[in-house]
Amino acid sequence: MIKSKQIKEYEFELDYFIDESVVGYLKYEVTYEIVNVTDVYVDDKYRRQGIATELFNYLFNSVKPEKFMLEVNENNLGAINLYKKFGFVTIHVRKKYYKDGDALIMESKVRKDVYILAIESSCDETSVSIVKNGTVDVATTVNSQIDVHKKYGGVVPEVASRMHLENITFVLDETLSKANMKLEDMDAFACTYAPGLLGSLLVGLETTKTLSLIYNKPFIKVNHMMGHIYANNIGNNMSYPLLALIVSGGHTDLIYMESETSIEYIGQTLDDAVGECFDKVARIVNLPYPGGPNVEKLALNGKDTYPMPNLLSDGSTNFSFSGIKSHVVNLAHNEKQRGNSINEEDLCCSFQNAVTKSLVSKTLLALNKTGAKNLIMAGGVASNSFIRESIRKMCEENSINFSVPDKKYCTDNGTMIGAAAYVLYKNNKFASLNTNAKSHELLTL
Ligand code: KG4
Ligand code: ZN
Repeated sequence: MIKSKQIKEYEFELDYFIDESVVGYLKYEVTYEIVNVTDVYVDDKYRRQGIATELFNYLFNSVKPEKFMLEVNENNLGAINLYKKFGFVTIHVRKKYYKDGDALIMESKVRKDVYILAIESSCDETSVSIVKNGTVDVATTVNSQIDVHKKYGGVVPEVASRMHLENITFVLDETLSKANMKLEDMDAFACTYAPGLLGSLLVGLETTKTLSLIYNKPFIKVNHMMGHIYANNIGNNMSYPLLALIVSGGHTDLIYMESETSIEYIGQTLDDAVGECFDKVARIVNLPYPGGPNVEKLALNGKDTYPMPNLLSDGSTNFSFSGIKSHVVNLAHNEKQRGNSINEEDLCCSFQNAVTKSLVSKTLLALNKTGAKNLIMAGGVASNSFIRESIRKMCEENSINFSVPDKKYCTDNGTMIGAAAYVLYKNNKFASLNTNAKSHELLTL
């Protein structure tokens, strides 16, 4: 049990009791915004039982200064490691302070909540979110242009950028009012700068840079695909090392992440992305844009009756979807020429099954290759229930921890950009106001 007592006006002591005797203590002084830890002691026979850790936890929960400071003998490695565990870093060395060595002056800054305003405008969604500490979606607005682009069967870039321009200030205002916050309350401004449609990206980028300039807060540039990945941090905490399966309109990637900031490509599509194929199949069966969700709906009532080609079963961890795309196009064309009708539900079901089989088997191969025990899925196609459940089942059978964002965070949104921006914020990776948009870019942090 820990009891707190006041020694002098600004001096306190936390005593650790076992059977009514004090076996350890932590003393500290409070000086305005700083708490100085002056002494930490645990009886010899009670060491290595986590008593010092408990004392520090108690301290961190009971006082909330801007920072904690302490001083320690450089030879006291056990203590130094403990302090590091609590985020203490050495900020100064007092030479020969002790007879046997230097004194390290360490400090641990208490992180206050970090609010990031994040904008996503890489394609046909204008979205603004406020994200707290990279994990909490405080408020989000997504303005979709689908109804406009639907008429053309796909996104028209020029129309998309004009609509972003028209919408961005309204979407921004709506998010701020939902959160009941002001632009001054933000700790940083972030946006997607690549990859995507240049005209669309520029609207979000210029807005964000302007906000950062006016409010004198850091600007953070986010790679859209990293946004998809970090959507897995919303309401959750990603565990590393992990394998990420990214399935979107432009990407089908397998990425290995040893830690929060390391990226290694394990596999990629050699041709079309899986979402692109869904959209193409939708067009063949006359379903409106965006095709993916509509193909999924039809597949629900279909049977797996149409034979599909084997998808790149070459033992590699790459994907290929152009073969199945051509296959479906030719199949529909041939049947039409013969005057036969197509069972659209069965065709969608057969196509979805074949694509899912490939995603499952290649992901399993990559899990085995990397030894990762955590799998995350991300991107628009990750909102497909059949694919989610098939991957989940494979993970259960192979004792892999599986996480996939809530469906609304799989398709493009500002929240995922805020989640990724927080990782960059923590690592002091801020961007210059000269940053330009890029239509293509590999995943990068
Ligand atoms: O991630 P996203 O919103 O935008 C990109 O970054 O590309 O993904 C959009 C893609 C589109 O191809 C769309 O058809 C597909 O994701 N998609 C789906 C589903 N929902 C969206 N594909 C299959 N099943 C779905 N339920
Ligand atoms: Zn996307």
